[in-house]
Formats: sequence, structure tokens, C-alpha cells
Amino acid sequence: MEIVSRSLAETEEAARAFLDKLKPAKGRATVIGLLGELGSGKTAFTQAAARALGIRAPVQSPTFVIMKTYAVSGKWQGSPLTNGKGDPFCPWGNLIHIDCYRLNKADDLLHLGWDELAADPANLILVEWPERVGNLLSSPALKIKFEVVDENSRKIIYDEK
Ligand SMILES: Nc1ncnc2c1ncn2[C@@H]1O[C@H](COP(=O)(O)OP(=O)(O)O)[C@@H](O)[C@H]1O
Ligand SMILES: [Mg+2]
Repeated sequence: MEIVSRSLAETEEAARAFLDKLKPAKGRATVIGLLGELGSGKTAFTQAAARALGIRAPVQSPTFVIMKTYAVSGKWQGSPLTNGKGDPFCPWGNLIHIDCYRLNKADDLLHLGWDELAADPANLILVEWPERVGNLLSSPALKIKFEVVDENSRKIIYDEK
């Protein structure tokens, strides 16, 4: 799938469409690597995904704090996610936003409790700059690639599985 988003609203649509098709990983967290240069829209996409999941808290870039966890609240407001019967449904209890920009090696992420987070099927984990921590995310993780097209346009590319 290759989408050209021409605004934040279109990026929000893209995030909803992505989540709508995203299959939860079985028996472990669902991990998504977000690739692309600074300003390509990785954080913007995560913010859009949070809104799609009904998260009301403002989602800031975790560059300085490395990791932020947002509960997907019981006050589920509905989104395009469905359980196949048209009922609003969310398979995840937490959205975890990690920015590895300031990390240098896999150990840095392990020290943040990565193994435990990655083992929990209730977690949807979006990771900016996963390449900074080597191959810790491992091959089953999905990846989304972001590219700057021009000031207001961003390309969003991912494999549909
Ligand atoms: N179509 C678009 N989709 C997403 N962000 C956009 C778009 N057009 C412009 N932008 C701007 O690009 C910047 C993306 O920043 P950010 O998401 O923090 O990037 P990253 O996390 O990849 O460094 C934001 O300032 C955002 O407003
Ligand atoms: Mg960012």
C-alpha cells in the first residue's frame, strides 16, 4: 500500500485505514516500526492512530522521554475498527509510543523493559527509529515507511499482509 497524504487529516485517514486492517499478533504485542527521516510524519501518524483508537490524551513526541504509554480506555468511542460484525472493537488495551532516536543499541531498549512490553498481547507498540536498536524488533514486526514529498505531502508505504 502506498498512500500520498496531502494533509494531517489525510494522514489521520491513513492511520485509521492501517489500523482497520491490522491483525493483532498472537500471544505477543503487535509491534510496528516507523521508518523515515526527521519530519517525515512518524509522530504525526502515531498521534492520528491514537485518535483513531479513541485516546483523548495529547500524544507528544517521545523523543526526550523515549517511551509513553496510553491506555485505550473503556470509554471506547468507536472507530473504523470492527470485530467483523460491525461492532466497534479494539483488540489492544495500550498504545505504546517509543522513540529510539536517542538510543544507541538494543541494550538501551531492553533496559526500558522491552521484553515484558513485547510479550504482552494487550500492547500495540509503535516504534520510531527502530534501526537505532539493531534488529531487536525482529522480522515479524511490521514496518511503515514515511517519505517527505513536499511541505504538506508525505508518502506512507507499508506491506499489506
Ligand atoms: N500530510 C502530512 N502528514 C503528516 N505530517 C505532515 C503532513 N504535512 C505536513 N506535515 C508536518 O510534518 C511534520 C511531521 O513531523 P513529525 O510527525 O514529528 O515527524 P517525525 O516524527 O517523522 O520526525 C509535522 O510538523 C506535520 O505538521
Ligand atoms: Mg517523531
